Amino acid sequence: MPQQAEDGSSRNSSSEAIALESHASNPKCGTADLISKLPSREGWSELIVLYKNYWLHPYFVESVLRLQNSFKPRHDDIILTSNPKCGTTWLKALAFAVTNRFQYDFDNHPLLFRHPQEVVPFIEIPRNMDFTYLETLPSPRLLATHLPLSLFPKSITSGCGCRVVYICRDPKDAFVSRWCYDNKVHRRHSVDLKTAFNMFSEGFSGYGPFWDHCLEYWRESIAMPDRVLFLKYEEMLSDPVKYVMKIAAFIGVPFCTKEEEDGVPEEMVRLCNFEKLSSLYINKTGEYFRHGNMVIENSAYFRKGKVGDWQNHMSEEMGRKLDRIVKEKLKGSAFCR
Ligand code: A3P
Repeated sequence: MPQQAEDGSSRNSSSEAIALESHASNPKCGTADLISKLPSREGWSELIVLYKNYWLHPYFVESVLRLQNSFKPRHDDIILTSNPKCGTTWLKALAFAVTNRFQYDFDNHPLLFRHPQEVVPFIEIPRNMDFTYLETLPSPRLLATHLPLSLFPKSITSGCGCRVVYICRDPKDAFVSRWCYDNKVHRRHSVDLKTAFNMFSEGFSGYGPFWDHCLEYWRESIAMPDRVLFLKYEEMLSDPVKYVMKIAAFIGVPFCTKEEEDGVPEEMVRLCNFEKLSSLYINKTGEYFRHGNMVIENSAYFRKGKVGDWQNHMSEEMGRKLDRIVKEKLKGSAFCR
């Protein structure tokens, strides 16, 4: 078993990564065996492994390998991406509403009866873990992922033409949201705030380091602005109509003047806002996923939906510390929050 370095990184990760990649083209190798050789670490509710600089649940490493071989992108795919707890559910709802607005009216809209997580599948966790399901979806597909850009299937990054919308959030709020969510979902295993904060600040969290994840997408959004749209949760909350119009234009379905005059963008924002979605029966009741001690209720995706809630959980000093760390990590990149 490769050793975990003190800073949470691995001494062996690149050779393991090469082994895993070669495995991807040789299905006879045991994936489980290869994954078991990756550096691993406990602390959060489940053990996670370090794969190509990112901490992932072993299942997602398996998904990455599987997608590398099997994912067939389409030129009109729209892929919604995020680090967990940065507003994925909201982005899914908005993008779904915008893309399908000619099909449904507001009184009978699918979002009134279906959870936003369900209407846009994650490519690394498709419905019933059936990866062929993605192939059955009609074009244009709306898909989602928490995977970092560098772990996207090569078929996507090698110029398939599809577009990516990334949502980023103040790491302090994203951290608090994650901590609350994890403790709710993993009922038998709760992590105290200080321990969780220290792990997150080291870059050790699922799909982390958080800042590397953001930076990859941000850089790509600068290099290829017509391919990657980089959004910030806080900016969207302060002017959601502006951003719903931006999303619509980016994904190729801009609002026409008549729609703007009729207030269609405002209606989409109202349909997808926190108060509306979190009050719907489908989002208040029932379970989204259950496995062992892990129970994700539909309501788990809706907590407060506010900017700055970190102040109710973290001290000012912790806030300053995380800001300092993130600033340091992003130094020289010209990306600032
Ligand atoms: P909080 O825990 O801070 O309230 P994700 O969807 O990526 O899992 O992110 C979840 C976060 O987005 C939670 O943040 C949740 O409350 C918030 N959220 C969910 N739906 C939202 C909406 N319609 N508008 C704004 N925020 C929303």
